[in-house]
Amino acid sequence: MCILKNSLVQSHELIARIVKEGDTVIDATAGNGNDTAFLAKLVGETGRVYSFDIQQQAIDKTREKLYELNLLERVTLINDGHENLDKYINTSVKAVMFNLGYLPKGDHGICTKAPTTIQAVQKSMDRLAMNGLITVVVYYGGDSGFEEKEQFLEYIATIDCRHYTVMKTDFINQVNCPPILVCIEKYQ
Ligand SMILES: C[S@@+](CC[C@H](N)C(=O)[O-])C[C@H]1O[C@@H](n2cnc3c(N)ncnc32)[C@H](O)[C@@H]1O
Repeated sequence: MCILKNSLVQSHELIARIVKEGDTVIDATAGNGNDTAFLAKLVGETGRVYSFDIQQQAIDKTREKLYELNLLERVTLINDGHENLDKYINTSVKAVMFNLGYLPKGDHGICTKAPTTIQAVQKSMDRLAMNGLITVVVYYGGDSGFEEKEQFLEYIATIDCRHYTVMKTDFINQVNCPPILVCIEKYQ
């Protein structure tokens, strides 16, 4: 079995280590609801997940999945951009997950964009609890292009090192642009 897992699996492993029953967390890109369901299981009956997507189709898909798994009551679904998260959440959050790009099997033209992604990450950092974690799985190449990845990586290098540790995990010898994992931990 491989030890070096892909970025998505790595993001889940890290989030599972810090999110506990009763925590408040955010899924910034609901999509088909896989990450939202994952987070809803971790926070348990007493926790809360805020889950954002700009597409009604994604919100509906996520709602359906949560209903089937009996997790719907733990989740607030928000059909709005993650860059507006401060309008909906004024408590501190333990973790925020971003899964950039477009909805699988959806319209590839509707995708995350660097300016709003960066704004949302900044607002997430403001809401992040001490030792909280933001994970960003960055898809690029193909229909996603390279623009968002380049601007986002440029931005994260400027985050204040006195308060946050920023890590980037990249697979440098693989083909077809495997997604990159970015993690931001608040420590002061
Ligand atoms: C790769 S998918 C997410 C997959 C999802 N995490 C899952 O588990 O299925 C990216 C999603 O981001 C959404 N999105 C794009 N721009 C957004 C924005 N500004 N705010 C919130 N969601 C956005 C897209 O509509 C798409 O559903």
